[in-house]
Amino acid sequence: MRSTAVLLIAGIAAFAAIPAQAASKEYIAGQRLAATCANCHGTNGVAIGGGFLPLAGMPANAIVANMKAFQAGTRPATIMHQIAKGYTDEQIQLMAAFYAAQNK
Ligand code: HEC
Repeated sequence: MRSTAVLLIAGIAAFAAIPAQAASKEYIAGQRLAATCANCHGTNGVAIGGGFLPLAGMPANAIVANMKAFQAGTRPATIMHQIAKGYTDEQIQLMAAFYAAQNK
């Protein structure tokens, strides 16, 4: 009886750990992809000196919409047209979620 309870608790703990682990994998993937944007948008999207647009704290759907507009050429840009075209929808989602989770 006692070992059943232990197994049950262990089972619940293992089950509870799955979503947290998945979220952190996605977060890390988003962080890695976002590192390629840091030269211009700042580390973790926090722009230094105000010269470039900060991405930290921007809602994920706004980042996705902008990246789509850059890909489609519907938003005027100097450089983002070329950059946006290098990423898949999934990669853009991962980066957008990462930036949305950063403090401004
Ligand atoms: C070489 C510099 C450079 C890099 C690298 C760069 N960006 Fe940009 N980004 C810009 C500039 C400049 C703009 C303004 C639009 C333009 O002129 O292209 C911009 C605009 C944006 C915007 C719109 C922001 C707003 O406030 O409307 C988003 C979203 C964005 N970039 C995302 C990204 C992501 C994601 C990456 C990495 C994959 C990235 N950028 C990499 C220079 C850069």
